[in-house]
Amino acid sequence: MRPARAGEPPMTSLFLLLLVLFLTPAAVVVAWRPWPQTVLNTTIIATGKDGGVAMDLGASKKYEGSSEFVHLRYHMGPVLTANITVHPIWYGAWTPAQKHILRAFLRSISPSDPAAVPSPSVSAWWRTVRLYTDQTGANVSRNVLLGAEKNDRRYSHGKSLTRLSIQSVIRAAVTARTRPLPVNPRGGLYLLLTSSDVAVQDFCGQVCGFHYFTFPSIVGYTLPYAWAGNSAARCPGICAYPFAVPDYIPGARSAGRPPNGDVGVDGMVSVVAHELAEMASNPLVNAWYAGGDPSFPTEIADLCEGIYGTGGGGAYTGQLLVDGRSGAAYNVNGVGGRKFLVQWIWNPILNYCSGPNALDQ
Ligand SMILES: *[C@@H]1O[C@H](CO)[C@@H](O)[C@H](O)[C@H]1NC(C)=O
Ligand SMILES: *[C@@H]1O[C@H](CO)[C@@H](O)[C@H](O)[C@H]1NC(C)=O
Ligand SMILES: *[C@@H]1O[C@H](CO)[C@@H](O)[C@H](O)[C@H]1NC(C)=O
Repeated sequence: MRPARAGEPPMTSLFLLLLVLFLTPAAVVVAWRPWPQTVLNTTIIATGKDGGVAMDLGASKKYEGSSEFVHLRYHMGPVLTANITVHPIWYGAWTPAQKHILRAFLRSISPSDPAAVPSPSVSAWWRTVRLYTDQTGANVSRNVLLGAEKNDRRYSHGKSLTRLSIQSVIRAAVTARTRPLPVNPRGGLYLLLTSSDVAVQDFCGQVCGFHYFTFPSIVGYTLPYAWAGNSAARCPGICAYPFAVPDYIPGARSAGRPPNGDVGVDGMVSVVAHELAEMASNPLVNAWYAGGDPSFPTEIADLCEGIYGTGGGGAYTGQLLVDGRSGAAYNVNGVGGRKFLVQWIWNPILNYCSGPNALDQ
């Protein structure tokens, strides 16, 4: 077991037991939730008289510290080497302040004035994603632009979406009679963002976000898309972790205040970051992933779930930065003085998770 550090919830036996139960499998295609596989290899080494268990969390660093279990491979499909344009679709009720947070994050990936953003920056975080190449040796694009947006304020497909109805929402956005989103199969990414009152298939139970590509039979085109939902009203302890923690884990504490003052949306930023990194390196789910089964790929962000800083792994976020004024926890800076917390990404050169706030780089 690793020594406890500041910010790490107390490792009581019950906590560990619940953590393991909570984390048990649910392998889901290109899905995301925090507190990942990194802990799934936890080995139960003793069972106490009271039924409590002690476990070896040493194994929890298998991805972060070592490459021996990770066989990330390139499967010859395309990666996004052309300029990437993200098209947000705001589904449901979004306040302008919430939109500002997510737009600022997207604009921070390739800021128009990089010198104005202090280190560690969102664009430096994207540099890890740019290490992935296609068959021709071309890297993932450095340019991620915020494109045309669409509002779906009236919940066109209801307040409970399935994976298939999500594709219909995207079809509606690209075929709308007024100001349809442009169809851009070369670098367009369609990002469906659902407000906190919208239920989505497997949301909270198994996933916080996912990405895939649209089917021509539904949308008319094959377009990479992702969904991320505001979990504030449903499961912030799961999907806005570590700004909230599950209340059934006794003694667990959140990592700190959210840097933009909105637990649900600040938590979504890391889910959006996760999905963008995976869409760029595996847009049609036939490029970069680990694991032998293409229907259960482990992608470049899956490998680093729950890791936001040096030493991260298991239930420990790793070393975060703390804003002196607000006490907010973050790890990257963005445009307009904004701060964000985003998970790290698997670095194919170093063969471990890395991020711009690493203390040892
Ligand atoms: C889990 O960890 C143990 C001990 O570190 C190791 O021997 C075992 O091979 C690991 N299993 C998997 C599936 O990674
Ligand atoms: C890609 O984006 C950059 C930065 O916005 C821009 O200067 C360039 O013209 C774009 N390239 C193409 C081919 O659209
Ligand atoms: C492109 O990817 C290769 C292989 O990972 C890497 O060595 C190189 O530094 C990358 N280039 C950029 C500009 O990121």
